Amino acid sequence: MSLRIKTLEDYHDAYKASVDNPEKFWEEQAETFTWMKRWDKVLEWDFHMADTFWFIGGKLNITVNCLDRHLETKGDQTALIWEPNEPGSEGKKLTYQELYNEVCRFANALKNIGVHKGDRICFYMPMVPELMIGILACARIGAIHSVVFAGFSANSLADRIKDATCKVIVCTDQNSRGPKISPIKLIVDEALAMGCDSVEKVIVLSHTGGGISWNNHRDLWWHDIMDKQSTTCEPVMMDSEDPLFILYTSGSTGKPKGVVHTIGGYMVYVWYSFLNVFQYKDGDIYWCTADIGWITGHSYIVYGPLLSGATTVMFEGIPSYPDPSRFWQICEKYKVNIFYTAPTAIRSLMAAGDKYAQGHNLSSLHVLGTVGEPINAEAWHWYHEHIGKGKIPVVDTWWQTETGGILISPIAGITDMKPCYASYPMPGIQPILVDIYGNEIEGNDVEGLLCIKFPWPSIIRTTYGDHGRCREIYFNVFPELYFTGDGARRDEEGRYRIIGRVDDVINVSGHRIGTAEVENAINEHPLVVESAVVGYPHDIKGQGLYAFVISRENVHDLNTFQKEINEKLTILIGPIVKTDIILIVSGLPKTRSGKIMRRILRKIAEGDLSNLGDISTLFNPEIVDEIIAKSKSLV
Ligand code: PRX
Repeated sequence: MSLRIKTLEDYHDAYKASVDNPEKFWEEQAETFTWMKRWDKVLEWDFHMADTFWFIGGKLNITVNCLDRHLETKGDQTALIWEPNEPGSEGKKLTYQELYNEVCRFANALKNIGVHKGDRICFYMPMVPELMIGILACARIGAIHSVVFAGFSANSLADRIKDATCKVIVCTDQNSRGPKISPIKLIVDEALAMGCDSVEKVIVLSHTGGGISWNNHRDLWWHDIMDKQSTTCEPVMMDSEDPLFILYTSGSTGKPKGVVHTIGGYMVYVWYSFLNVFQYKDGDIYWCTADIGWITGHSYIVYGPLLSGATTVMFEGIPSYPDPSRFWQICEKYKVNIFYTAPTAIRSLMAAGDKYAQGHNLSSLHVLGTVGEPINAEAWHWYHEHIGKGKIPVVDTWWQTETGGILISPIAGITDMKPCYASYPMPGIQPILVDIYGNEIEGNDVEGLLCIKFPWPSIIRTTYGDHGRCREIYFNVFPELYFTGDGARRDEEGRYRIIGRVDDVINVSGHRIGTAEVENAINEHPLVVESAVVGYPHDIKGQGLYAFVISRENVHDLNTFQKEINEKLTILIGPIVKTDIILIVSGLPKTRSGKIMRRILRKIAEGDLSNLGDISTLFNPEIVDEIIAKSKSLV
């Protein structure tokens, strides 16, 4: 079976082969790589127990496949192009050989300070080459990386460090993103003061040269520990099912959970999906604008491209700085061929006006991609017309932190595109729609809850430290299925359109936000008795946060109140989470057992009052009229 899908027929053949005999199909893909010992068995799985094992008994090191494997033929090829925040500052380019050398040096440095196989290392840093070097160095010596997006607060960082009992933190002095500087090291210090007892060392990269505090017993400069390190480091032999990384993500309940991916299966799937979805060809310049703090950055800035021997671009800044033409300037500067971004970025650049895209030579582009949230038709067409000049494919890729790689997406230029549709499943992916009782919804032109009925190599293995939670959230909602938490529609021809989350997760600007976390933070405000947060359609962000709040006293100045609430969210979660609308109410609609009926609040927030459903069973049905009247007064 060909590894590369080059025609529509190839896609159908690959899909059929992957369903008829998944083990054989994935075994053939895995043979591309260097294994220190071949696997004994391809797959064992039991969805009921949330257990999946791929390439059992196989031994390898993923960095051998990302780096060593390319040295002979591509040692001088650029592996990484780094574009800094300030357009005038000098960027960096690292060849495969240079990246290999740096990874080995940092791997040796980590070993020197006592990092061993299985230790957890937290990265809290901006998009700088050292972040890529650092996580690959962990993989080289078998340490598990846990990257925390540098926009999270000290509280969120501390929660994640404690949950994974990290031994080392790697950070920068400061972070410069757009016009803002943030005090990364000071935030780390603040987090560590919250009782992160497992942390022995903090490695600090001098990035802006800005002010920091220092603890002589604990803190180390990156450049000091790298000094005189050898540029070779023996790769540690890892088991296919050893963890590669932990990445925290929000769910409907409780604190964010640490999604665990393991080495062998993740490696095979992110490589296979990268090559095929984007139709990457040797020599192409590929740019994914995500942050490595999210799964998109892990799979499609670092691992997928490097496993494929690609040239991957990494950008430190934001699309609007210094002005909304920055993305297009970068595309022109590096002659980017494949460009992958989020619908929120597209919507905000579209709103800024066409003039920013005009005047840039975008003729190098041949594939465009989107990820992270549903893309509306207007944004899809703008992207296709204004950036792709109506000529090149747009791949709307659907996947999740838990899926490790892209599961449903057009194959660029090969399977057809339909605006707003992630379209057809990748080979190896068997989607199914079910109703709320778990009954399969068959046929086409239907809608339901999206599940997957057979494991693929990069499926979530566990939630760190709590396998029961993994079972409960993903595998035991519907028997024998992986439940995605998304609702989807299947059209007449079998294409999938992702409608959005059906649980209490809100997708704001492509960031996954759990309502429980937001409510807990809002409830910390001294005036708040109780709150309920739902999403509502927002022109730029996709969804905005609408908070219904019961206050202890009359709120006279709603603007100040909202500012205070947003400050609480900044402190407790991070500046990426802010309420867009606050409605003060005297009660929340509840069932007789005391559960908030979010369905009703969601409808009110959406302004869809036509069908609120049966409210007679509520404990306090009278509150609904009050909330509706107040919500109307906001408009
Ligand atoms: O609701 C879906 C939405 O993002 C969720 C996953 O978020 P996260 O784990 O942060 O990963 C984002 C990057 C892979 C999904 O459950 N989502 C992701 N991609 C799409 C999407 N919704 C619609 N269309 C997409 N292409």
